[in-house]
Amino acid sequence: MRLSEKCQKIQGSVTLAIDAKAKKMRADGMDVVSFGAGEPDFQTPKYIVEAAMNAIQDGQTKYTAAAGIPQLREAVSKLVEKKMGYPCKAENIVINTGAKQSLLNALQAVCDCGDEVIIFAPYWVSYPEMVKMVGATPVFVKTQEEKNFAIDFDAFENAITEKTKAIILNSPSNPSGAVLSDEEIRKIADIVKKYDLMVVSDEIYDCLLYDGAKHFSITQIDEEMRQRTILINGMSKAYAMTGWRMGYTVSDEKIAKIMTAWQSHATGNPNTITQYATLAAVSQENTEFPNMLKEFSARREYMLDRINSTKNISAQAPKGAFYVMVCIKDVIGKSYNGKKINSSMDFAQILLDETMTAVVPGGPFGADNYIRLSYATSMENICKGLDRIKSFVEGVV
Ligand SMILES: Cc1ncc(COP(=O)(O)O)c(C=O)c1O
Repeated sequence: MRLSEKCQKIQGSVTLAIDAKAKKMRADGMDVVSFGAGEPDFQTPKYIVEAAMNAIQDGQTKYTAAAGIPQLREAVSKLVEKKMGYPCKAENIVINTGAKQSLLNALQAVCDCGDEVIIFAPYWVSYPEMVKMVGATPVFVKTQEEKNFAIDFDAFENAITEKTKAIILNSPSNPSGAVLSDEEIRKIADIVKKYDLMVVSDEIYDCLLYDGAKHFSITQIDEEMRQRTILINGMSKAYAMTGWRMGYTVSDEKIAKIMTAWQSHATGNPNTITQYATLAAVSQENTEFPNMLKEFSARREYMLDRINSTKNISAQAPKGAFYVMVCIKDVIGKSYNGKKINSSMDFAQILLDETMTAVVPGGPFGADNYIRLSYATSMENICKGLDRIKSFVEGVV
């Protein structure tokens, strides 16, 4: 078999192994608690569901333009104008099958084989694989753990080589929940301009903010940064629409055309019914969102209190998204019931086997001293799961 070298280097999600195991245990009747979910545990708001049903009944079930229906591109551009405060046209928007496709389109548009793309660690598990998928090389720059994962600017500048083409930003971040400040974003932009780089800015968690944190986009700095940036967003998180598969890019018109050409051959248009549902979603106020945020906020506080009052583990307060990174440094190297914990993957696997609690290991996110807990799960599950984690980490020797 003569297969692609490039594709054989792509790793499937390591975290899926844990997830699959948790699902199987649940199917076998076990009382598994999962902190793995990267999706809101809320239903898609009714007005969006109704718009989709109307679209089907009205016969909106055919192909559309590859970049999306013009009314949706227009509506998204208006939403961007309102949120960001700069002019945006339908021509700047391309509608995609989830933000995953938006990211891949963006990296396709920017990278050639041999280019390097800087990724700040900890990072979302798909970024390195996506960079490899477009033939480029991921270069990791560690953030400052002790300062709530703030950017280390010396490390960033030192990582730039002649091959560096772009950086990926993700604020608020999955997995750390870190939110980049205005000042940090401006410093990043200065470096980007100095070395003539492009930016892929994944802002999918931009509405999920706590403790008064504010979202600032690198595209808000000036026209030059808008030309250098492909902004990624989507409907999965803020509108509880993970299964609908809807994302979009905001970019310079020329880049939008390149991504549209690519998409027209790769997948064609994103799902037509979802496009009509999204048109309704972004054209009205999402009145269910404040409740969702309030609930996430209460769960986050509860979780932080519990984790920080448990021996052997700790967590800093994340300012955004719906994850808490739990530091398990003091547990690594120890054993539970005779089983040695040498990595975050071991921790996750042994925790699942011994206590029926699923967590995401930090290793595949570039942070092996951590596990990631999602609070996109009910308070009842959170209480039960944290009781189990407590007796596990307090029981290591
Ligand atoms: C940081 C980040 N970006 C992008 C995505 C992709 O979202 P989707 O493809 O569901 O729109 C996710 C999903 O978990 C994510 O966490």
